[in-house]
Amino acid sequence: MTNRFLPLLVAAILCLPGPAVRISLASPVPNTSPFRPGEVWLDTAGHPINAHGGGILLHQGIYYWYGENKQGRTFLPESNKSWDGYRVEAGGIRCYSSKDLVNWRDEGVVLRPEPNEPTSDLHPSKVCERPKVVFNQLTRKFVMWVHIDTEDYQSARAGVATADYPAGPFQYLGSVNPEGQDSRDQTVFQDNDTKAYRIYSSENNDTTYVSLLTDDYLKHSGKFARVFVKRRMEAQVVFKHANRYWFIGSDCTGWDPNPARCAVANSIWGPWTELGNPCRGPQAEDTFMAQSTFVIPVAGKPDVFIFMADRWNKSDLPDSRYVWLPLEFKDQAFRIPWRDAWRLNASKEDRTANLR
Ligand code: GAL
Repeated sequence: MTNRFLPLLVAAILCLPGPAVRISLASPVPNTSPFRPGEVWLDTAGHPINAHGGGILLHQGIYYWYGENKQGRTFLPESNKSWDGYRVEAGGIRCYSSKDLVNWRDEGVVLRPEPNEPTSDLHPSKVCERPKVVFNQLTRKFVMWVHIDTEDYQSARAGVATADYPAGPFQYLGSVNPEGQDSRDQTVFQDNDTKAYRIYSSENNDTTYVSLLTDDYLKHSGKFARVFVKRRMEAQVVFKHANRYWFIGSDCTGWDPNPARCAVANSIWGPWTELGNPCRGPQAEDTFMAQSTFVIPVAGKPDVFIFMADRWNKSDLPDSRYVWLPLEFKDQAFRIPWRDAWRLNASKEDRTANLR
């Protein structure tokens, strides 16, 4: 057959009636595999994804997922017995890359532990949790902030590292007690005007702080606000939609789940209005047995966001799973409905339909 007839043949096949295969030329998004919240999620090499307490960076059309590399034996140190503070040795931060948010390629450990340096923040005996990475336009550096701690969670510091490429390697620069205070669970939010903020549990988890970072994102600028005063929050998430700032957090119950909380504000400095638990469906009262870690704004789709959470398994921490769910805005608020399985398709109906 000559090339002349090929387009005609393709057109004829596409017009064939019948239920067998429907090809939609209009759909801009490929029909990827579904998300299956809470199930083992394999990377492209067939290994379970190991990126806990994570966050996502979109850079040049590729999503990068950074999270705690949890491996080895789970144990309960004497110092943490009163609050079930199970741990594994800190294994650094692992990164995965993806174009479709479903298929993830392992990019390796991009912030490496330092087993030969007992005094280092990155020594496996320490804590290295909840990494978040942003790209700084001025310095062209990828900046990672992370919760650094001692095994008993008493030193409570914020660590920072930089890299020239999104998949690292990241060079560790050190840690601080921001605004002279302790700092545990944390996230980083980058606004449209390129300003970036760290949002973290402080005052012994009593109060959340919002700190403006310096223009290079490497330090706290000194401008900060105390928000959700004495509300004891962890697992902070901040994202922006329709020019407003939205927040998700949790209560402080260690690895055990509790009801999520959410809030909205016209300015990142507040005042923040709490809107209750956004989760809906079975086990919504326990955030589907998970704890928030990030919300992903999906590229090119201003109204599509994915809620990212960790379903911790405190007696076998490396087997902790991921709960990713659609986040739906409705009536000046948002909801996170449970789905056994769902796809990130173009139509809202597809996204919100339960596939099983
Ligand atoms: C959680 C916190 C986790 C981890 C854990 C330790 O509440 O969100 O990131 O620090 O406590 O028990």
